[in-house]
Amino acid sequence: MRVGVLTGGGDCPGLNAVIRAVVLKGIETHGWEIYGFRSGWRGAITGEGRWLTRDDVEGILTRGGTILGSSRTNPYTEDGGVEAIKAVLAEKGIDALVAIGGEDTLGVANRLTEEGIKVVGVPKTIDNDLGATDYTFGFDTAVHIATEAIDRLHTTAESHHRALVVEVMGRHAGWIALHSGLAGGASVILVPERPFSVDTVVEWVTRRFEREYAPIIVVAEGALPEGGAEVLQTGEKDAFGHVRLGGVGTWLADEIAGRTGKESRAVVLGHTQRGGTPTAYDRVLATRFGLHAVDAVADGDFGVMVALRGTDIVRAKLAEATAELKTVPPQRYAEAEVFFG
Ligand code: F6P
Repeated sequence: MRVGVLTGGGDCPGLNAVIRAVVLKGIETHGWEIYGFRSGWRGAITGEGRWLTRDDVEGILTRGGTILGSSRTNPYTEDGGVEAIKAVLAEKGIDALVAIGGEDTLGVANRLTEEGIKVVGVPKTIDNDLGATDYTFGFDTAVHIATEAIDRLHTTAESHHRALVVEVMGRHAGWIALHSGLAGGASVILVPERPFSVDTVVEWVTRRFEREYAPIIVVAEGALPEGGAEVLQTGEKDAFGHVRLGGVGTWLADEIAGRTGKESRAVVLGHTQRGGTPTAYDRVLATRFGLHAVDAVADGDFGVMVALRGTDIVRAKLAEATAELKTVPPQRYAEAEVFFG
């Protein structure tokens, strides 16, 4: 059997661990040939990539990024994209695909399944916003990086009696903000799921200053003020219709400074949250996802995504996993609110 593997969308730590598991189990257990497509769906359209060997995956478990490269190419917005994929698979004799990605990559995987292409999905994203799985790999590492940053910012904020606003990624979901804010003891956590009142934020910040502590405000890049809109870096849309978020941290820091008279600065963590070595948790999760994706291919169970439920890896329909974003529920945000101010 010949199996293609690709990584699409924004990279995240753990991608190489999945590739390694797919290659080693595919070759060693099943005697398959594994083709690594270059740069996500772009490689599947052009055929660019290479047959992977044991040597290709030696020493990559701990490496961030992806040895295959990634892109936000959408075959459904490329002229003849889907037909080109079918032709590439036929030409290379590839029977099935393992697509490692988030809502966009797996949304494409779902549509390709409906067109008869055999695909198994693996849920990746630092945003943790994919349905049908408790966690995506990459999220734990991003939370660790953000938490470490918050820990460091506490001490410098206190030395200078400043408010520090930490802007984290997550697109339209507040998972990274919620978890890193809770872990880092933030004074305020702002998430896209709950538009915030600047007045209330200022009250919390003031209360914190009154207790002789410097406030740390963790704000998700997609968070928005009540009655306002998300702050965009650019209005330009990618091939999946996403705008580039960013800037709410700086905006909020200026608001806080203006209203409290206290010095207030913004720190944007940006792509540091996506880079570098994965945590042990993500290495294990990504490895298990890769192994179970191979099992799904071996069972001929396509149109599914491997998913984490509790401590078990299960299979969920791609259609179910990509139907809607998994956002922070009100009760999870309420837990964090206890610590605000
Ligand atoms: O989906 C992962 C993510 O890092 C989001 O948190 C963020 O909004 C987006 O990707 C940034 O994408 P890019 O690296 O293409 O600007």
